[in-house]
Amino acid sequence: MNAPTVQIRTATPEDLDAITDLHTRSRADYYRGFVDAAELTDPASAIVRRNYWTRTLNSADHTIFLAHKSDTLAGFAVIGACAFPDPDPEVTSEMHLYVDPRSFRQRIGAHLHSTCVQAWRAASVTTARLWVQHFNHRAQAFYRSQGWAPDGHHRPDSTDLLGYLLHIPANPAD
Ligand SMILES: CC(C)(COP(=O)(O)OP(=O)(O)OC[C@H]1O[C@@H](n2cnc3c(N)ncnc32)[C@H](O)[C@@H]1OP(=O)(O)O)[C@@H](O)C(=O)NCCC(=O)NCCS
Repeated sequence: MNAPTVQIRTATPEDLDAITDLHTRSRADYYRGFVDAAELTDPASAIVRRNYWTRTLNSADHTIFLAHKSDTLAGFAVIGACAFPDPDPEVTSEMHLYVDPRSFRQRIGAHLHSTCVQAWRAASVTTARLWVQHFNHRAQAFYRSQGWAPDGHHRPDSTDLLGYLLHIPANPAD
């Protein structure tokens, strides 16, 4: 049987519940064992996340790309304005990426990442940022596989978050 095709589209406000649910399950997968277990299912934290995604979905400075597999949300990526003034003046956009744990290692992340790179190239973004928890080795391996490299910075509000940069040549062959 062939693997189901991955469909990519931009999110709309109607996708709020699906995005919030996937974010909650995806982040729980890498936070488990590193934060208090109660935080991962805390309803108050869930409301904070839902409010965050409501703002992001309605933000003109952000784009959310969704990956669907057989009509089910399998992952999403957000690119857009940096949440903090960046220590590197070349950086003009940042990325967040989450895949449903049931779909890990099926190239969903790579597919979403390549969509982000195309969007950055179209917008003439040459340097992008992401921040990743120091204990999240799976994500760091994924990012390195996509061409990102640590630049030694930490997010201004947390020394636990390591900075990675991606340089995006204007011409994919460069
Ligand atoms: C990190 C994440 C986005 C990767 O997405 P994914 O769809 O599972 O990754 P892909 O299948 O596209 O993997 C592409 C490449 O990344 C690397 N990679 C992915 N997962 C890896 C792992 N567990 N260990 C080592 N390398 C890995 C491999 O090189 C892989 O290529 P290969 O499978 O041909 O060897 C996903 O695991 C995830 O959502 N994790 C939880 C949320 C998270 O950590 N988000 C980042 C927050 S900063």
